[in-house]
Amino acid sequence: MGARATMGCSPLLPFQALWLTAAVVAALALAAGAQPSPSLSPGFYDATCPGLQPIVRRGVARAVRAEPRMGASLLRLFFHDCFVNGCDASVLLDDVPGNFTGEKNAGPNANSLRGYEVIDAIKAQVEASCKATVSCADILALAARDAVNLLGGPRWAVPLGRRDARDASAGAANANLPPPDASLPALLSAFGAKGLDARDLTALSGAHTVGRARCAVFRAHIYNDTATTDASFAAGLRGAVCPYTGGDANLAPLEPQAPDAFDNGYFRDLVARRVLLRSDQALYGSGGDGGNTTDALVRAYAANGTAFAADFAAAMVRMGNLGPPAASAAAAEVRLNCRRVN
Ligand code: HEM
Repeated sequence: MGARATMGCSPLLPFQALWLTAAVVAALALAAGAQPSPSLSPGFYDATCPGLQPIVRRGVARAVRAEPRMGASLLRLFFHDCFVNGCDASVLLDDVPGNFTGEKNAGPNANSLRGYEVIDAIKAQVEASCKATVSCADILALAARDAVNLLGGPRWAVPLGRRDARDASAGAANANLPPPDASLPALLSAFGAKGLDARDLTALSGAHTVGRARCAVFRAHIYNDTATTDASFAAGLRGAVCPYTGGDANLAPLEPQAPDAFDNGYFRDLVARRVLLRSDQALYGSGGDGGNTTDALVRAYAANGTAFAADFAAAMVRMGNLGPPAASAAAAEVRLNCRRVN
């Protein structure tokens, strides 16, 4: 895999840049061993759109400068694309009332998935440089990678050459995206169905080291799961941040120490039982896999940010390789506007 991955400009603090240097080296080593699907390659647009990667990076950097949380939102957008019929930009298709119901308003996405305008702006710039050449799915894959890196996380070579779906499915989004109260067996099964194992699940869940969640999705955990949450952490969230009734849209950081820094703080929070989601805490101390695999990985990542960064980068490549079903793939296209089919 191409070794042209470099550290880009990071708006972050020196300690994060230091951490990044080590992480990049390790991430590249592991990502190099990953198996991209044969049809995808990091050099796919080298001849047809050589300016692509700088355009995407500039667009993501602008958005993250304006609002650091947007980095997290773009990363989540990519996950929600890939888990629903593969990484095919189906998540970006707008509903057409009376005609087409896509994924944007499915349960896991409505009122919380964001970043569509950032992808639109980047797509417009890419179209201006390379007309009808680069898929929205590839722009999203690059944007997610750049978002992670700009928040202080690793950088890896992104295999490219995806095409955009001509359909989207609210039902598939509801069925494939795990809910915030998922148990460890349910998470393992949802990821296993995509060919992703416990290591991928644990590493990818480290994405929750950045971003925010709404009270509606973490209320049950902080009020009901007293045996598995740190008492003072839960007490600090009850009340003004997340009342027992109302306040559904109130936000809290998924990783409160450094909510916009892509580091391994999330795993230390799991060990301390100070996380927002029941599905997060399920990775540590739940015994849901006999206590064997994910507990050990959480401890390892909590102790070693470089190991986490390397595994995260490799798992992102594997997740990014999820392809659409054959019938959708056959009909796929390079969309001109990410919100609608050509
Ligand atoms: C393992 C199963 C997962 C579950 C159950 C889950 C669930 C959630 C939930 C409920 C939220 C908050 C949404 C809201 O406020 O309504 C969230 C946010 C987020 N998720 Fe996940 N997630 C999972 C895996 C992932 C993965 C694999 C990634 C990326 C690789 C990811 C990236 C994010 C990010 C970055 C945010 C914050 C987004 C923002 O601030 O806009 N999640 N997730």
